[in-house]
Amino acid sequence: MTAFKTLSAPVAPGGTIGILGGGQLGRMLAMAAARLGLRTHIYSDTEKAPAFQVSAGRSLAAYDDEAALAEFARACDAVTFEFENVPGQTAAFLAGLVPVNPGPRALAISQERYEEKRFVAGLGLKTAPFAAIDSRDDIAKAIKAIGCPAVLKTRRMGYDGKGQATIRNAKEAMEAFDRFQGVPLILEGFVDFAFEASVIAARGLDGSFAAYDPPGNEHENHILRRSTVPCALSESQCADAKGIARAIGEAFGYVGVFTVELFVARDGALLVNEIAPRVHNSGHWTLEACMVSQFEQHMRAVAGWPLGDPARHSNAVMENILGAEAHDWLRLAQNGSALHLYGKGEARPGRKMGHLTRLRPLTKD
Ligand SMILES: Nc1ncnc2c1ncn2[C@@H]1O[C@H](COP(=O)(O)OP(=O)(O)O)[C@@H](O)[C@H]1O
Ligand SMILES: [Mg+2]
Repeated sequence: MTAFKTLSAPVAPGGTIGILGGGQLGRMLAMAAARLGLRTHIYSDTEKAPAFQVSAGRSLAAYDDEAALAEFARACDAVTFEFENVPGQTAAFLAGLVPVNPGPRALAISQERYEEKRFVAGLGLKTAPFAAIDSRDDIAKAIKAIGCPAVLKTRRMGYDGKGQATIRNAKEAMEAFDRFQGVPLILEGFVDFAFEASVIAARGLDGSFAAYDPPGNEHENHILRRSTVPCALSESQCADAKGIARAIGEAFGYVGVFTVELFVARDGALLVNEIAPRVHNSGHWTLEACMVSQFEQHMRAVAGWPLGDPARHSNAVMENILGAEAHDWLRLAQNGSALHLYGKGEARPGRKMGHLTRLRPLTKD
């Protein structure tokens, strides 16, 4: 195996950070980098990638095009990514040429739901009960151990609830198994949670750690609708949530921003749902409510800079603008919230087109 490049000195202003992926997260990362005097170079396989609009450097090529990847690596002082489904080989190839953070191991584990749950459980953290499903025979055994209702999920490539089915009995599980056509699956016990929360945290090159206050997250049709800070977690639960993120970050030897999605059980227990090795939709409010946003924090970390202060100076509610709601941009622009539109063309149903953040004075609760 070729050795992975590591960052030996901070990337100075004027240097270039490469970002694999060109969606809204890449776009907001590029804008945050610009504030620090860092340039960005976006690599995407999609011509209309929203991040291309705000980045001077761009590569339009497939994620397995090694010639294009090598050219991209030469143009960058450090590389990161904005989506977790970057092919493992792409990350490993790049990491042999240029410092890539987060590293290929964190990426590999968080891409695969079963590996991810095993990793989290191995750290002594709580999750829903889970089992790997590779064949129809595994289903009966898993249901016996886990019970119903349960959620059957593809181990790879799921997002916004895609690639999952809630099942009430073995028959429904078999039907869902057949629909997923033989891809590796995981069965998880259905968590009757009180609410969902997340921790957006960062680890610096020097091992320093910073976490934002956890937002509470409401989903509609499995898509995030709203994130609110503060959420209903107590002060000690917030500390525990940040502790969970810290344990995960250290175990990965992580550099950059990452997110831990949590289920808050009715008895107050915090269960890890999944890890996103990147900035997160539930952290967009940090752009207005914190001195250093999740996007700037990530750029600081992957450029080897000191982490910024994650303290929140305001309370905030962030709401996504989904699909055709974006057609109402003129009205949305008048409502007194901070408006973000991602520069996407077609407003397909459920597509994340932008978001709004409303600030409130900080309250102690
Ligand atoms: N085991 C579970 N029990 C209850 N709800 C779940 C479970 N797994 C997923 N969900 C619901 O579906 C949403 C999306 O699932 P998640 O595993 O986070 O996948 P992704 O965000 O990658 O689509 C969660 O935020 C939660 O609302
Ligand atoms: Mg999720």
